[in-house]
Amino acid sequence: MRRDRKTGGDMTVVPMQERHLAALAAIEQACFHAPWSEAMLREELGKGLFLAAEQAGRTVGYVGCQTVLDEGYITNVAVSPDARRQGIARALLRELLARAAERALAFVTLEVRASNAPAIALYAQAGFEPVGTRRNFYTAPTEDAVLMTRFLKE
Ligand SMILES: CC(C)(COP(=O)(O)OP(=O)(O)OC[C@H]1O[C@@H](n2cnc3c(N)ncnc32)[C@H](O)[C@@H]1OP(=O)(O)O)[C@@H](O)C(=O)NCCC(=O)NCCS
Repeated sequence: MRRDRKTGGDMTVVPMQERHLAALAAIEQACFHAPWSEAMLREELGKGLFLAAEQAGRTVGYVGCQTVLDEGYITNVAVSPDARRQGIARALLRELLARAAERALAFVTLEVRASNAPAIALYAQAGFEPVGTRRNFYTAPTEDAVLMTRFLKE
């Protein structure tokens, strides 16, 4: 049976909009060594598949996926440190994959730090398969990237 913990109460996933940008830039700062700025996030409005999670009126996380023809490239997945382990990232990926299938994307792919066990577990649970590595892809610290892909059609 599928294990699916309830996501925190009134959590919703919606397309990223202007009202989310400041909070998402702050989440980027809290999560990453080279965070996306508010301006970089604004550039993505209305493009690709960028989705934000809201909980009790607060922006708590997001997933970003750029699209090229029928290919999806996840550029960002992040949840606010104080909102983790409630299923928010899982809900974001589920909605992303549903929208990717609606758009007839062939696959959605991403890179993740080899040591980022929480993220690798999250992606594996969402049906992403490891398809390769990029040596020394990341800096500060230098680390390999694991490439993971979720295929959506034959
Ligand atoms: C990775 C991240 C997005 C997960 O967000 P989250 O909302 O806490 O994840 P969820 O609650 O939806 O968890 C879904 C699954 O992911 C895995 N997972 C999430 N956090 C985990 C952790 N700390 N340790 C192990 N597995 C974890 C589990 O398989 C989990 O399923 P389970 O709860 O049934 O065990 C979040 O930890 C984060 O923002 N990290 C910093 C940014 C980052 O590393 N992003 C990915 C870059 S590629």
